[in-house]
Amino acid sequence: VEVAGGAYGAQVDLSSNDEMGLLAASFNEMSRKMEADIEEMRELNVHLIRTEKLAAAGTLAAGVAHEVNNPLASISSLIQMLQTRHTVDAETREMLRLISTQIDRITQVLRDMMEFARARPPERAPLDINRIVEASIRLASFDKAFQRLRLDINNDEDAPLVFADADQLQQVFLNLLLNARDAMPEGGELRIQTLYDALRHDVVVEISDSGTGIAPEHRAHVFDPFYTTKPAGTGTGLGLAVCYGIITAHGGHIEIGPHNGQGTTVSVRLPVEHVNEKLYADDSP
Ligand SMILES: Nc1ncnc2c1ncn2[C@@H]1O[C@H](COP(=O)(O)OP(=O)(O)OP(=O)(O)O)[C@@H](O)[C@H]1O
Ligand SMILES: [Mg+2]
Repeated sequence: VEVAGGAYGAQVDLSSNDEMGLLAASFNEMSRKMEADIEEMRELNVHLIRTEKLAAAGTLAAGVAHEVNNPLASISSLIQMLQTRHTVDAETREMLRLISTQIDRITQVLRDMMEFARARPPERAPLDINRIVEASIRLASFDKAFQRLRLDINNDEDAPLVFADADQLQQVFLNLLLNARDAMPEGGELRIQTLYDALRHDVVVEISDSGTGIAPEHRAHVFDPFYTTKPAGTGTGLGLAVCYGIITAHGGHIEIGPHNGQGTTVSVRLPVEHVNEKLYADDSP
């Protein structure tokens, strides 16, 4: 009755040795399977909605960027013309200069949006994930606030290679490292770990910070394009959306760990089977 009412996974407590017992066991098995299937469908649905949103946002971003670019270029050259006029007084000249810097900012945002919309397919090669993670940390370390964090790096040097796009993965880890930095404005601890999950044939990268954590009401939205809780002008809300797009295109998964009141853990999983297939293929005569 519970199962008919939607409580898939409910079990019948009957363990006799006759047909009734067998029936109960099969029923329980079916109920369990239905629960697992429904969970899988639910996850697939969330995934489809996210990918759909990403594609829609990409198209929109490209369209807007294109439309705004042309008038902006005209404004920019008109200002340059005004600046060269001798009749313009010093105050006006200063105003024109300010307008120019604001236009530069708009141009930068448009460039970011175009970059996001371009979402090229990955150019894959066999890669050691540890080297990619290290390169991302090196890049992030140019940042002053990042330098103040305590790093705890734990690489599994025996992790198998993944078949992936080095630039794209580096972008993913850099985004995650910078999010962690932003979550720890007062400093804190950043744990970075790579490992091989032999059971699921995945290489896993975990990035944990001791920062603010993600409030329950934000959790469902952080992968949405343009979703940000940062003050206007600091975040565009594209970081995690881009990470999601890239990791998904690699056949991997990206997840936010459970909320435990102590910062945030983001884990990235990348499948290794493609690499091994390729390596075996290369070995054969
Ligand atoms: N490590 C983290 N700790 C706490 N909150 C986080 C963390 N990572 C992401 N978030 C939350 O998820 C939101 C979305 O992150 P995302 O990287 O997509 O955008 P952003 O960092 O706000 O802007 P952008 O990355 O485009 O500069 C953030 O605004 C923040 O609220
Ligand atoms: Mg970000």
